[in-house]
Amino acid sequence: MDGIQNIKGCIFNMDGVIVDTAKYHYQAWRRLANQFGFDFTREQHEELKGLSRMASLETILEWGGIYMPEAEKMHWADVKNNWYIGLISNMKPGEVLPGVLNFLQQVRATGRITALSSASQNARSVLKTTNLESCFDVILDGNQVKKQKPDPSCFLMAALEMGLSPAECLVFEDAPPGVEAALRGGFTVIGVGKQEDLVKAHLVIKGFENLNFNTMVAHIVERAVS
Ligand code: BG6
Repeated sequence: MDGIQNIKGCIFNMDGVIVDTAKYHYQAWRRLANQFGFDFTREQHEELKGLSRMASLETILEWGGIYMPEAEKMHWADVKNNWYIGLISNMKPGEVLPGVLNFLQQVRATGRITALSSASQNARSVLKTTNLESCFDVILDGNQVKKQKPDPSCFLMAALEMGLSPAECLVFEDAPPGVEAALRGGFTVIGVGKQEDLVKAHLVIKGFENLNFNTMVAHIVERAVS
């Protein structure tokens, strides 16, 4: 955190940070579980935040006490993904979370670089349907990033493409494995969500509504020296 005054770029996770796609993942996974004869709650689904498609499926199968061989898992992961694609294809620009567009504009207006780093292989489609693609200088999705969080490679690869060191970037994350990944990579992390869920982040914000970039950076600096 030493160089926090020298922040030159911001890296955003996508699902749950700039768009609420979790509800669509939940609908699609739930449909699958129901097909297998069980159900799970929205609270349980919170545990899947940031996990890869396969890790999510394996967790859900465990909840249902279901065992299946790898090839069958691949098949059902594809089935779920097709349902999910159907749901996100109807997304609208209005589904971008409150304050996000304004915040991204502020970051760029101060001469900083913006990057999106998502574990989702569907990230580009979501960015397209919500008109967010042009808001990012660098975009990395689950097709390029193979290692699962808390491995830091998703953020390290983004920083590399931005031509910046981790110390020069802020990472915005809504899930504990993502916060851990950013910390392991040597980044300053802004948790987006509830303080109690993101205790390891350097600063936690509820969301981007009415958030001023410079004031936020000043808060982080204040915390670092106190
Ligand atoms: C992450 C989401 O961003 O991407 C997870 O938080 C999701 O819920 C993962 O499972 C993979 O997404 P996709 O779209 O490739 O299945």
